[in-house]
Amino acid sequence: MPRLLVINGPNLNLLGTRQPEVYGTTTLAELEDLCTTWAATAGFEIDTFQSNHEGALIDRLHAARTTADAVIINAGAYTHTSYALHDAILAIELPTVEVHISNVAEREPWRALSVIGPACERQIYGRGVEGYRWAVEHLAALLSSPPRTVHYGPLDDHVADLRVPDEPGPHRVAVLVHGGFWRHYWTREIMDGLAVDLTAHGWATWNIEYRRVGAGGGWPLTALDVALAVDHLADLAGDADLDLDRVAVIGHSAGGHLALWDAARATQPSGTVGSDPLIHPRVAVGLAAISDLHAAADVGDGAVGAFLADAPSHADLYRSASPIEAVPFGIPTVLVHGDADEAVPVDLSRSFAEAARHGGDSVELIELAGVGHMELIDPTHPAWIATREALDRAC
Ligand code: DQA
Repeated sequence: MPRLLVINGPNLNLLGTRQPEVYGTTTLAELEDLCTTWAATAGFEIDTFQSNHEGALIDRLHAARTTADAVIINAGAYTHTSYALHDAILAIELPTVEVHISNVAEREPWRALSVIGPACERQIYGRGVEGYRWAVEHLAALLSSPPRTVHYGPLDDHVADLRVPDEPGPHRVAVLVHGGFWRHYWTREIMDGLAVDLTAHGWATWNIEYRRVGAGGGWPLTALDVALAVDHLADLAGDADLDLDRVAVIGHSAGGHLALWDAARATQPSGTVGSDPLIHPRVAVGLAAISDLHAAADVGDGAVGAFLADAPSHADLYRSASPIEAVPFGIPTVLVHGDADEAVPVDLSRSFAEAARHGGDSVELIELAGVGHMELIDPTHPAWIATREALDRAC
């Protein structure tokens, strides 16, 4: 069984009472219990450690060379100052995820800089203590099914994880587009579980990052990144033995918006955002997708407004940015939505299905009773099994 070390740095012993408005009310003991449960579910043996002392943190990291296979570290304020911790993480050569409970990018400016970041495999922040769970699951995916991480363009966020099944190709391809209301603190590792599951079921997977709101993204740049990422499959096809006639684009939530938008690119007039795609998906899958930007004006605490905030205003903005305005796509769509989804209401998928069918598209709407928003990207949930089966039928 792989072994995971979870390290918490200075002042995190005071979790629960320390600035609860910033860090929440979960105590360190409760957090370590949660990590133990998450680690067991992900197939890890776990060790936890907390210290307020820089040297003790470094000593524990050194010891991990022989006692751990992966590390999660919340280095507290040492994150922003400790080159010694950076060097220790680099020296131990273990995959390490940096976690912060708070949204360090939107607090005092000095918190936005992590000097340990360049030594870490990933940084997760702004998701409360749940960030540790995403880190555990990411490390489990990394160890069990290591991806090839590829730059599809010149920017830091122009990056994606390619996983190719062990069997001989050519392989069907599933492009995965993560959600998070287009906001910077949600990143592609939330789709790792689906990527690993699909790869185990014979799909090549291409789990893409893109520029997000608050970190250089927003319409149209975010969408153009997605277009660039999808079209990059043409460059990878030979090497990875990909079947470009069998590409499925699958997105969750705001990523559902981007996946549906990508599928509609072929219908956009030449010279408009994303027109003339190189890759023509065979099916588009929206998991609790934000398929209609007008109807979603009130979801996600102003997310649509923030996404469109820097868009050049013109009469055709929604025609090019909002998938429902681009139907019919001329390819089938599969929509999966729980009727207990409080983040993105199921009505969006119902109306999209109606509009697409009315336009002549073939649409499969899978409505799931009692299912919420995040379940749709949990690879162990029945909702995902239903989704994978629909994908198999469509592609
Ligand atoms: C922290 C953020 C740091 O800036 C701060 O010094 C901490 C906690 C977080 O988890 O949000 O101690 O790492």
